[in-house]
Amino acid sequence: MLEGKVAFITGSSRGIGKEIARLFLDNKAKVVICGSKLENAEKLENEFREEGYNKNLMMAVGINMTDNTSIQEAVQKTIANWGKIDILVNNAGITSHESLLDSTDEDFEKMFDVNVFGLVKVTREVVKYMKETGGSIINTSSMVGIYGGKNQSAYSASKFAVNGLTVSWAKELGSYNIRVNAVAPGVVETDMMKGSVNDKMKEMLVQMTPLHTMAQPSDLAGAYLYLASDAAKFTTGTIIKVDGGLTM
Ligand SMILES: NC(=O)c1ccc[n+]([C@@H]2O[C@H](COP(=O)([O-])OP(=O)(O)OC[C@H]3O[C@@H](n4cnc5c(N)ncnc54)[C@H](OP(=O)(O)O)[C@@H]3O)[C@@H](O)[C@H]2O)c1
Repeated sequence: MLEGKVAFITGSSRGIGKEIARLFLDNKAKVVICGSKLENAEKLENEFREEGYNKNLMMAVGINMTDNTSIQEAVQKTIANWGKIDILVNNAGITSHESLLDSTDEDFEKMFDVNVFGLVKVTREVVKYMKETGGSIINTSSMVGIYGGKNQSAYSASKFAVNGLTVSWAKELGSYNIRVNAVAPGVVETDMMKGSVNDKMKEMLVQMTPLHTMAQPSDLAGAYLYLASDAAKFTTGTIIKVDGGLTM
């Protein structure tokens, strides 16, 4: 579905991003694997090579979402190697749990620096090139970016902002034939989730989910493939929930 396309996927060294990268490779895209450090991205690139993926379809870069220089260097390296970026997946993110009264300005600043301002920095840099060819931008949101989350106001607010950017950019960039959509996962079994949901909460979430299971990262990837592909060529400004029905 993605033959000839170049995909730049932030936060793809592990978790949800790793499985998006895998599915895009399965669909013959060229994939830029991004970690917060180059060695994290290279580790996954090596793992994929050992699994038999074509090394010519992969490139590893390190980008720090809070550092414009590392972002610009990674985008320019991609353009130098592959000439274009057709698909941008803004997936890198962090989470935190704190009540309003326990929170500090720094908690909110750190959250927004990565989840919002970092995403803006990457998108601005990529769109400089993508506006020449058209393309698809897919932002990773969250169910708490639609419904809020108790003791998660910094994270939740950052994902509300991601949704706002998604629809605003869909309106703004449509004239360049750039589509902008988001995927809002429920709870997904990754390092991020393991750090914030204990076994009891996990069991409760499974019971509350109509599909009665916890999502694995690979369960999310299909939504990204759809939005990246020409099958979604008339879809822009949408936020697709992939949460097993948890938030109905
Ligand atoms: N897991 C869930 O339940 C869940 C639910 C809803 C939404 N989400 C969203 O889904 C996305 C992926 O989450 P995940 O669960 O896969 O997380 P994860 O397993 O913790 O992976 C996070 C990814 O983001 C990268 N990253 C973190 N901070 C970064 C920074 N400052 N600069 C550059 N890259 C950075 C990490 O790179 P390194 O490996 O190099 O550190 C890693 O690739 C996030 O946006 C998250 O908010 C997750």
